[in-house]
Amino acid sequence: MKKTVILAAFVSLFITNLSTANAQEVRTATRDYADEQRDETDPVILKRLEDWKDLKFGFMAHWGIYSQWATVESWGLCSEPWIDRKDAPYDEYKRQYTALNTTFNPKRFNPERWAKAAAQAGMKYMVFTTKHHDGFCMYGTEETTYSTVNSSCPFFKSKNSDITKALTDAFRQYNMWIGYYFSKPDWHCPDYWAPEWATPDRNVNYTIADKPDRWRRYCDFTYNQIRELTHNYGDIDILWLDGGWIRPEWSVNDETRPWLGCSGQIQDINMPRIAKMARENNPDLLIVDRSVGGKYENYRTPEKQVPDTLLPYPWETCMTMGDSWSYVHNDNYKSTNELIHMLCDIVAKGGNLLLNVGPDADGNIPEPCLKRMEEMGEWLRQNGQAIYGTRPLKPYAKDRVRYTQSKDGLHRYAIYLLDDGEVPPSRIEVDGMVYRIKKKTKHAVVVELM
Ligand code: GLC
Repeated sequence: MKKTVILAAFVSLFITNLSTANAQEVRTATRDYADEQRDETDPVILKRLEDWKDLKFGFMAHWGIYSQWATVESWGLCSEPWIDRKDAPYDEYKRQYTALNTTFNPKRFNPERWAKAAAQAGMKYMVFTTKHHDGFCMYGTEETTYSTVNSSCPFFKSKNSDITKALTDAFRQYNMWIGYYFSKPDWHCPDYWAPEWATPDRNVNYTIADKPDRWRRYCDFTYNQIRELTHNYGDIDILWLDGGWIRPEWSVNDETRPWLGCSGQIQDINMPRIAKMARENNPDLLIVDRSVGGKYENYRTPEKQVPDTLLPYPWETCMTMGDSWSYVHNDNYKSTNELIHMLCDIVAKGGNLLLNVGPDADGNIPEPCLKRMEEMGEWLRQNGQAIYGTRPLKPYAKDRVRYTQSKDGLHRYAIYLLDDGEVPPSRIEVDGMVYRIKKKTKHAVVVELM
C-alpha cells in the first residue's frame, strides 16, 4: 500500500514537471513580450504624464475591513514568516479576518469631508484602495459578493455603500485626478488561493500548468473587475496596480524572483489585454503596473523612500504619514515640517509625493493627519509657485536648499528648508547671492533666483 502511494506521488511529480515544461514552451511560443518590454511611446500617454508631473502632490488612503482591527492591511492573511499575528493561530486569525466584511459599517464616512481636506491640503489627485490583497471590494462589483455593496456587509444599506463612487464624485468636485489602487493578487478568490490547498506564501497556491483553466478564470476575473473600475466611474486617470509578484516572465529578475515564493511560478495576468480594455473609455489613462517595468508602468513608485538624487524617468514616492499604511492606534506621525521638506525634496528631484493616510473603522481620517494636511495646505498656498507645475533645476538639492523652475524656465526658485520651529530669517544666501525673504513662512521659505 505504502509503496503504491509513494509511487503514485513520484508519478504525479513527474507528470507535474513534464507539464510545467510543456506549459513553458507553449507560453514562450504564444506570447510575444517585445512590445510590452518597451517604454510607452504613445504621445497621448506621454502628454498625460507631463500633466501628471505638474500635480506634484496626491492623496492616498488605505481603507478596508482591516481598519476595524487597527491592524496591518491584508498581510495578516499571508503565511510568511515575517508576518506577526501576535501569536494568534493562523487558521483562527484567517477565519476571523475573512468575516470582517460582516461588521464593516463606517457610520461616519463622509466623502465630501475627505475630499475637502485633501483639496485644502493642496493635493491634486487621489489614489484609493478599491481592493487590497484581502480581496474585499470597496466598490460596486458584480464579480464577487465580498464587497461593501453586498447584503453580507452591513454598510450595503448606506447611500455611500459604493465607497469608490462616493469618493470619486466628491474628489471630482475639487477637480482632482482620480486614481484607483487595485491589487492584482486576490487572497479571497478561490481561483487565486484555492481552498483545497494550504497557502504557503503570498502567491497562487496551485500549479498553473496543471490547471490552466483555473488560472484563465482568475485572469478573466481580474480583467472583469478592472473593467468595472475603468468603465463604471467615468473618466479615470490612474490605474495603480499593486502586487508585483503577479508579473510576466520577461520582467522577473534577481530582485523580484524571490517574490514568487516556494513554487517560483510565473503568474502572467496578460497586461496588454487588460490595458487595451482599460483604455477603451479612457485613452489617456495612466497605468502603473508597479515594479514590472515596460509599457504598463507609466511611472515608478518608490515605496516609503525618497531617492538620493534626480531620477531620469517619471516617478512618485508613496509615503505613509505615520508608519503604517492602514489605521493603527497612536501611529507615529511625521511632523508637518518633515512632510513639507519631503515634498520639496521630492519635487526638486523630479517626483511627485503621494501621501497616505489610514482612515479608521468609522470612516474618519485621524485628527493628526487632518492637522498636518491643513498645515501643508497653508504652506502651499503661500509657496505653491515653487512646487506645482515646476521642473527640477540643477543642482536639485544642496544643503538646506531645494531648487525648482517653472516649465518655461523663466522662473527659478530656491526653497530654503527651516528647522522645526526656526524663526524664518529676513534674508538668506543662495549660491553666493543674498536674497530678501518676502513671505516669512514656517517650515521653508522660497525666493526667486536672479
Ligand atoms: C506595500 C504594502 C502594501 C501597500 C503598498 C502601498 O507594498 O505591503 O500593503 O498597499 O505598500 O504602496
